[in-house]
Amino acid sequence: MCGIVGYIGNQEAQPILLDGLRRLEYRGYDSAGIAVMQQQKISVRKCAGRIDKLQQLTDASPLHGSIGIGHTRWATHGEPTDLNAHPHTDVKGDIAIVHNGIIENHAALRRHLEAQGCVFVSQTDTEVVAHLIHTLYRGDMMAALQQAIRMLSGSYALAVLCESEPDVLYCVRLGSPLVVGVGQGEMFLASDIPAILPHTRDVLILEDREIAVLKRGSIEVFDDLGARKTPAPLHVSWDAAAAEKGGFAHFMLKEIFEQPDAVRKTLSAYCGPDGLQEMLPGAPDLVNFIACGTAYHAGMAGAYYFAQLADTESAAHIASEYRYRKLFPHANEAVVAISQSGETADTLAALRQAMEMGAHTAALTNTLGSTLDRTVSRSLLTYAGPEIAVASTKAYITQVETLLLMAMDLGLRKGKLTRERAKELLDGLAKLPEKMESLLKNQAYLQQYCDRHMHEKLMFFIGRGMDHSLAMEAALKFKEISYLPCEAYAAGELKHGPIALINNGTPVIAICTQESLLEKTLSNLRETKARGAETICVCPQRFAERAAREADIVWTVPDADELLLPLLVMLPMQLLAYHMAVAQGRDVDKPRNLAKSVTVE
Ligand code: M6R
Repeated sequence: MCGIVGYIGNQEAQPILLDGLRRLEYRGYDSAGIAVMQQQKISVRKCAGRIDKLQQLTDASPLHGSIGIGHTRWATHGEPTDLNAHPHTDVKGDIAIVHNGIIENHAALRRHLEAQGCVFVSQTDTEVVAHLIHTLYRGDMMAALQQAIRMLSGSYALAVLCESEPDVLYCVRLGSPLVVGVGQGEMFLASDIPAILPHTRDVLILEDREIAVLKRGSIEVFDDLGARKTPAPLHVSWDAAAAEKGGFAHFMLKEIFEQPDAVRKTLSAYCGPDGLQEMLPGAPDLVNFIACGTAYHAGMAGAYYFAQLADTESAAHIASEYRYRKLFPHANEAVVAISQSGETADTLAALRQAMEMGAHTAALTNTLGSTLDRTVSRSLLTYAGPEIAVASTKAYITQVETLLLMAMDLGLRKGKLTRERAKELLDGLAKLPEKMESLLKNQAYLQQYCDRHMHEKLMFFIGRGMDHSLAMEAALKFKEISYLPCEAYAAGELKHGPIALINNGTPVIAICTQESLLEKTLSNLRETKARGAETICVCPQRFAERAAREADIVWTVPDADELLLPLLVMLPMQLLAYHMAVAQGRDVDKPRNLAKSVTVE
């Protein structure tokens, strides 16, 4: 979703802003722009399309100055056009702003401002903010911003330049993330950390309604009433290289290959010489997960683990549904919000609902300092490192791994899991990265399959129990980056309708990790084959012979404990989606219409 960058220092702002915008490209966008203070005058360059186009504009007509703001826009109000791109300015052009989020009362504000003579040039909700600040400005931007944010409803992260205060960069947030990078005699602003990593690892994360006043050598933070605050900067351990492609054709491929290491790091974070840490506080007897997209699929796997290992009732909920559902308080319930970014609007809103209901809440996130991380008292991190590709891979794998560890910890504390079984699982988990590495070495068969099947019209992914959640995740990966229509179904449900879609040659991929359900799923696969499907079974080596009796093709992963197999079978599924997207010539890391961090409802 939209991205913000800002710079104030002694270097030329334009290249720093453009580089920062490129690092935010992964969030998803359809137009981009920058504004720079040139000899005390604001100049803007912006256009619909990619940053390369903006670069052409700035190459043809460069902006010189050491203070500036930049933006990548993911259209919500108004099409992706040059005029709708940010930055937006007031009537006179002496205030420029960039904005992430949605101003919900923009229509009423627009009418009010038009009545005062403001002339609007775009269809965006953002432009009202530029005009509003202009009408409120009386020589003190702090005061104007304090008044403006009292009049705005919705969510925003705003960065503001003002010609009358040419050596200051202002910013404020509510609901949309904003971080300040603290350098030596210079400050950097961005909507997330990877954009400022090449410059500094000391970051200050703004809280809701905080206004930050950035000057070359100082940063001051105030609350919305003007009281000074003294937030402590955070030192992030990610380095800039972690957010670069490092020789891989795409971030997604690099991130798939980083999974063995991410699994190692996550395991060692929660399991030391004394065994597993206490992960979820207390001993809940109901655990609900709330999340969106891939994180929801991880939650489905988590619910399976909690039932199996901790004998605890558990379910995963789509956050955008949960937040509008009638909730029933439960005396000893834990609600765990799962989110890679920690900024997903629906997940945060669902979490607030759960908090209001009085549930014990916890978070599982990949992003230290994210809104989710800071909202709950118990936040568990996944150690995947920055995930840049829109399609989530290593974040998912580490979410599933951490949920497994959480379930084991609870199972041990509740006396539902024996020490011996826990040791078996932990030993297996320690060996998993090597198995993942061996699996990643051979992907030619997947590439060849995709080259042969790139003109398919429809694919099916099926599975039962835990494998149903894996099938859903595999299909989501496929849809979002290859744009190929896919159905993910609980294998037993096929005959209740979707089997009608099977045609001659329709690929049906069955994921089989559970011995007790193998024959059932294979028999569902047989039913699709009888109707012309080309059937594939993805399973551990030890099921290969049985699978080969039913499936046209068998793709195996190394043998491992049944509960660890989800972490292995997802690798060929991710690679399959990747190779299909490459074969189709898709923009793998930045699929159309999608954003990495979905900060609007
Ligand atoms: O940052 P989050 O984990 O909260 O994001 C949730 C979904 O938007 C995300 O998982 C999305 O489905 C991915 N693009 C899937 O690859």
